Amino acid sequence: MSELQSNAALPLVEHRATPAQEFLLDVIEGFSQPQKTLPCKYFYDERGSKLFAAICETEEYYITRTELAILAQALPEIARRVGPACDIVEFGSGAGIKIRLLLEGLHQPRCYIPLDISSEILEQSAAELAGQFPGVQVVPVVGDYHKPIILPEEFRQGSHHRKLVFFPGSTISNFTPEEALGFLSRIRDILNPGDGFLIGVDCVKPATILNAAYNDAAGVTAAFNLNLLERIASTFHTNLRPQHFFHHAFFNAEQSRIEMHLVSRRDQVVEIEGHRFGFRQGETIHTENSYKYSLEDFNRLALATGFTTDQVWQDPERLFSLHYLTAC
Ligand code: AVJ
Repeated sequence: MSELQSNAALPLVEHRATPAQEFLLDVIEGFSQPQKTLPCKYFYDERGSKLFAAICETEEYYITRTELAILAQALPEIARRVGPACDIVEFGSGAGIKIRLLLEGLHQPRCYIPLDISSEILEQSAAELAGQFPGVQVVPVVGDYHKPIILPEEFRQGSHHRKLVFFPGSTISNFTPEEALGFLSRIRDILNPGDGFLIGVDCVKPATILNAAYNDAAGVTAAFNLNLLERIASTFHTNLRPQHFFHHAFFNAEQSRIEMHLVSRRDQVVEIEGHRFGFRQGETIHTENSYKYSLEDFNRLALATGFTTDQVWQDPERLFSLHYLTAC
């Protein structure tokens, strides 16, 4: 009985999984599905982020340069719509070329609030931008935009400054259409009527162009995809060998998405930290979806989540679209 009492008095210790433990749980869960999967967020370790930057430089990957050209051209109209002294919120703020363009092009923007899951990347880019734009207050926020978004007090609803949410790069492509609906609703929740949402969205187009963009001739996208396995191999005790898999990406027209997979070259048993997973020759790990939208489909998504589409810009070839939405 005295034992029971002392047990009841034990303090609760909260257990937090380390990043490596969470990664392992995600790998085990993904490899236990009938269609094996890995979450695409794990692409972006240090090497993966460099490989992604290299993808953006390939001839076949039109997204980055096309969006930049559209943004540069649309800037005066965007600035007119946004007006002076706005607060910009950016989700998954990356390398920062596009935000520089925006900060230069808008009329005396007041604040820049980059939101990212990685505090290191955030701190570094925030410090750089603060130095370069002394008139702009930079307020980095560590957060995961897959969950409800909480901004610092001074940027909550009721603030009299117009907010502009910036979500470039067609990052929306990694969400399923249902997830995209939820994400747009969460954005709408942090905005007041009249606030703006500037979002880059990759367009549906002939499969030949799409397939080339995710199968560049230099093999950068293949290396990016296979880097997921490199990451597993260097993080865990495992017999997994990246060279026993190959990169496969194709446009799934029915679902309007590029699918990236890693294909097993042979029948094999992969062991990771004592967990065993059988692979048949030709069996795949589904590593990424990249959804492509028609203007109509994206417009419908915006309407359904409390936005009106004010203006859409496209390049002459209509490869990519930039949407200025207003919160209703
Ligand atoms: C960052 C999700 C927009 O889908 O085009 C590029 C990621 N994957 N090449 C995309 C990616 C392979 C990219 N997004």
